[in-house]
Amino acid sequence: MKFLTVVGARPQFVKASPLSRELRKHHHEVLVHTGQHYDHGMSAVFFTELEIAEPDHNLGIGSGPHGAQTGAMLAALEALMLAEQPDAVVVYGDTNSTLAGALAAAKLDLPVAHVEAGLRSFNRRMPEELNRLVADHVSTWLFAPSQSAADQLAAEGITGGVHVVGDIMMDALRLHSRRAVLPPSLGLTSGKYALATVHRAENTDDPGRLRGILRALGVLGLPVILPLHPRTQKMIAEFGFTTADSIRLVEPVGYLEMLALEASAAIILTDSGGVQKEAYHFGVPCLTLRDETEWTETLEFGWNRLCGADPERIAAAALQLPTQETPRPALYGDGHAAERIVAALGGVKPALTRVT
Ligand code: UD1
Ligand code: UDP
Repeated sequence: MKFLTVVGARPQFVKASPLSRELRKHHHEVLVHTGQHYDHGMSAVFFTELEIAEPDHNLGIGSGPHGAQTGAMLAALEALMLAEQPDAVVVYGDTNSTLAGALAAAKLDLPVAHVEAGLRSFNRRMPEELNRLVADHVSTWLFAPSQSAADQLAAEGITGGVHVVGDIMMDALRLHSRRAVLPPSLGLTSGKYALATVHRAENTDDPGRLRGILRALGVLGLPVILPLHPRTQKMIAEFGFTTADSIRLVEPVGYLEMLALEASAAIILTDSGGVQKEAYHFGVPCLTLRDETEWTETLEFGWNRLCGADPERIAAAALQLPTQETPRPALYGDGHAAERIVAALGGVKPALTRVT
């Protein structure tokens, strides 16, 4: 079969890395980069480090307001799908690239495979929530990372084509974490620093929330490494905020460096979806700088806590961290989601059983 895969933003490169590798063993893949992320540190570094094939097409869409960005992707993807005539289209996660890929394909009557289906924050003010809802409701194959995600799809009336396969990001961790190295240039001592990431629009574009988060990071009592998403960098400058000396602002780091930074951190503070799961995987306590999470299983034993953007709430949560004795069962499969996905897509006998 000929699959056309649409990626565009940082987490999608991580997710595509294991599946693209597996898909290409059995099928023909045309890889399309929308150009949503384009800085070297937000895009090219992932293709090199994770050995992802060079995209067959880069649409070069770039940044813009939601409607303009998604609309430009939709028009370009429609033309490309008509030219490439794939048998099916693969999309990942919940970005504007996901929405455009799923919608363009569905309108051309092409079957869509949505990897990371069934996640919900139940907050429709989040652009990602709208993107995932639409992607799920137009997809033929829905690859859910957990049973709770599949249950959510069932609650919305989607039962056909749902496969609980585990989380594709666990595949990326399994394949690549051995190569992770702490950058010596940062001069960090393992277990003696905090790692933070902030990029969610609800935090970066609200001066009250962004100020609250930066204040909380400044009084943690630990050096904080904060690899800055370009959006956050821009908003800190726009609001004229300064940060405490204990916060080290650095450029976004590559995936291998990021995994090493996560694994050796004493604590992680983040509003990223992927980073919450990676923190859990490495057994590093995580404070999520949001009021809800799609990855609710990570909250169960206290390894992850929802703290919003309020400095007092964040400081209080930092005093109640789990210990290494706290249970930490595997939540999102065994790192073999890619094989299950390819098996479900057809033509290959499944080698592994269903994850529950
Ligand atoms: C997007 C996704 C979000 C995901 C995140 C991963 C949507 C709606 N949001 O958010 O779900 O968690 O990617 O990182 O799709 N910029 C640059 N260089 C780049 C990319 C972005 O400077 O290479 C700046 C631009 O000013 C841009 C802003 O960052 O306007 C936001 O980028 P955009 O892709 O629109 O959204 P993200 O916040 O990255
Ligand atoms: N990541 C990275 N470098 C960074 C920040 C994040 O490699 O400076 C990785 C992170 O380890 C995870 C993925 O990017 O695998 C998560 O992407 P992001 O936080 O941008 O998006 P989200 O998961 O919230 O959609």
